[in-house]
Amino acid sequence: MRRRTLLAGGALTLTAATTAACATAKSTVDTKPPVVPFYGPRQAGIETAAPANATFLALDLKAGTDRAALARLLRLLTDDAARLTQGVAPLADGQPELARSPARLTVTFGFGPGLFDAAGRPGPVQQLPAFTVDRLQPRWSGGDLLLQLCADDPLTVAHAQRMLVKDSRAFATVRWVQRGFRRGAGPQRNVLGQVDGTANPQPGTDAFARAVWNDDGGTTLVLRRIRAELETWDAVDTVGKEFAVGRRLSDGAPLTGRAEHDPLDLAAKNADGLPVISEFAHAARAHVTDERLRIFRRPYNYDETPGADGTPDAGLIFASFQRDVVRQFVPVQRRLDEADLLNEWITPIGSAVFAVPPGCGEGGWVGERLLAA
Ligand code: HEM
Repeated sequence: MRRRTLLAGGALTLTAATTAACATAKSTVDTKPPVVPFYGPRQAGIETAAPANATFLALDLKAGTDRAALARLLRLLTDDAARLTQGVAPLADGQPELARSPARLTVTFGFGPGLFDAAGRPGPVQQLPAFTVDRLQPRWSGGDLLLQLCADDPLTVAHAQRMLVKDSRAFATVRWVQRGFRRGAGPQRNVLGQVDGTANPQPGTDAFARAVWNDDGGTTLVLRRIRAELETWDAVDTVGKEFAVGRRLSDGAPLTGRAEHDPLDLAAKNADGLPVISEFAHAARAHVTDERLRIFRRPYNYDETPGADGTPDAGLIFASFQRDVVRQFVPVQRRLDEADLLNEWITPIGSAVFAVPPGCGEGGWVGERLLAA
């Protein structure tokens, strides 16, 4: 009863804080509102413009966390996420000051196959098949519950992580944490120097909805930690690097085009009668014409401590959202596995798959429809 009263009180504070935050944002022209709505039919953090910082946090449910316990956990984490994203400190926050800067924080929940087992419900996602390029390490793979935290401010992300982990402790253990970064504004480039994200379905369009959103407001997430072999990549000249992808390094334009968003012309031949864009170039192998079979990539870069000899430990936390993993992601990954010039410089070292449930309304919680008795 006391908890319910506290929650109700919190909801009022939340509404007041949201109103205040929005009012502040409206009065400042050219400033992005610092608050991304949490409640809604679809979870935030997917179609939302990606901010500079992300933490992907995977939890494993403790043995004995049954459907009822899982529901308690998700209620608690939903309440925390709703508050944190709106700039309101969760209950029992030791550093409430840190919660007051939401910095466009989003918290996106993903459910791994193990969560459905614990809930005693059939799940819509299975582990991926094995690929020959995989060099997967358990420390970067799997997980029952994923929390994707994204914000403009790394301190906001760190605080959100702390609170969510703290409130999960009775039910789950931390399996892995992956931190990533991207440019806060302007064209995106990855750690290999390439313009990245060009051929994505554009957020806000029908094409995006057809590729990503299921009718219930859910989707799926494939997360792959892909190491970039930067030392050998450095040794390749610009022509070789551009040939591997089929696009120019300077501006991301296809080798057959003038501007970044020109279509790939896979039939174009050079003076010797050879294809300008190799059929084995990454963009050619990954290209999909049927809109409903495209994937939406929302990757982050990573860059960890180099080896003692200075070898970089950098790459991509490749995150892709699509309605259906088996129909959309797997065929692309299979084609890349069979032949992709870029394979020489990229190595998947982690892999995880999650169902992303629909969002929820005020008073509801993420996963409610799945777990309600
Ligand atoms: C470290 C790993 C990777 C790097 C560095 C990388 C890099 C790139 C680059 C530079 C482009 C061209 C620009 C663009 O359209 O964004 C591209 C396109 C693309 N990539 Fe990747 N990629 C990686 C992994 C993957 C994986 C694992 C998949 C899926 C299984 C994938 C799927 C795609 C798709 C679908 C396109 C768009 C193709 C088109 O229609 O033109 N990529 N990638």
